[in-house]
Amino acid sequence: MLKVENLHASVGDKEILRGINLEVKAGEVHAIMGPNGSGKSTLASVLAGNEKFTVTAGSVEYMGEDLMTLSIEERSRKGLFLGFQYPVEIPGVTMANFMKLAVNEHRKAKGLAPLTAAEYLRLMREKSAIVELDSKLTARSVNEGFSGGEKKKNEIFQMAMLDPKLAILDETDSGLDIDALRIVATGVTRLKREDNATVVITHYQRLLDYIVPDYVHVLYKGRIIYTGDKSLALKLEKEGYDWLINDYKEE
Ligand SMILES: Nc1ncnc2c1ncn2[C@@H]1O[C@H](COP(=O)(O)OP(=O)(O)OP(=O)(O)O)[C@@H](O)[C@H]1O
Ligand SMILES: [Mg+2]
Repeated sequence: MLKVENLHASVGDKEILRGINLEVKAGEVHAIMGPNGSGKSTLASVLAGNEKFTVTAGSVEYMGEDLMTLSIEERSRKGLFLGFQYPVEIPGVTMANFMKLAVNEHRKAKGLAPLTAAEYLRLMREKSAIVELDSKLTARSVNEGFSGGEKKKNEIFQMAMLDPKLAILDETDSGLDIDALRIVATGVTRLKREDNATVVITHYQRLLDYIVPDYVHVLYKGRIIYTGDKSLALKLEKEGYDWLINDYKEE
C-alpha cells in the first residue's frame, strides 16, 4: 500500500528527513513515536504533499504509483487521508457543507453519482455516531473555535466520512484529554478493516492500549532507528528514549 524508501527531505538547506524506510501493508496499524523535533510531522507533511518541504532523495510508492507525482487532491481522491497536528480553520464554511463537497468529490472520482440530501444526512448521522460528535459541531465553521478535543473528534469524523485506504494521523502531544484520546483510538479501531491501513504518530503509549499497533517505529533525527511491536511502546514509556538514541547522539 505505502512504500517509503530512503526518503530525504529538506526545508531550505536544512535536511530534516534523512533516509526514511517504511512499508505499510493493507490491514496493518503502524505507530510512529520519537522525541520532539525528530521529523514525525515532517514525514506526514511530505506524504501530504506540503510544498514547504523539498524531497531531495528516495521514493514513495502509494497503491503502486509514485506518490510524489500526484497532486494533493489526487492523493486524497486515491484514498490517502491525513489528519494534522494543527488542522486548518475554514471560517464561513460549515462542517456539513465542507464534508458534503469532499464526499461527493470522492464519489465523482469513483464514477458514482452525488449523494442526495437524504442519503448524505443518513451518512453523516451514522459516521458522527462513531466519534460521538455533537450535531451542533457539524453546523459550525470548519474547526473555527473548536477545542483541541473537538478538532480531534472532527478529524476522525472526516476520516469516517471519506473512508480512506490509508490514514495518517498526527496527534498533538498536548491538549488531548482522556476522552479525546479514547475517541481517536476507538474511532480508528472501528474503522479498521482488512483492506485499509493506519499510521498514527503519537507520544502516548496509552493511545496504543486501545489501538494496538502491529508495528511501533521510533523516529529520531530524521531516521527510523528502531522498529518493534506494541511492547516497544511500553518499554519507551518506562525507560524513555535514551537507551535507543545514545548511539546516535554524536551525529
Ligand atoms: N518550516 C520549517 N523551517 C525550519 N525548520 C523546520 C520547519 N519545519 C520543521 N522544521 C524542523 O524540523 C524538525 C522536525 O520537526 P517536526 O515537526 O517534523 O518534528 P516532530 O517529530 O513532529 O516533533 P513533535 O513531537 O514536537 O511534534 C524540527 O527541528 C523543526 O524545527
Ligand atoms: Mg509533530
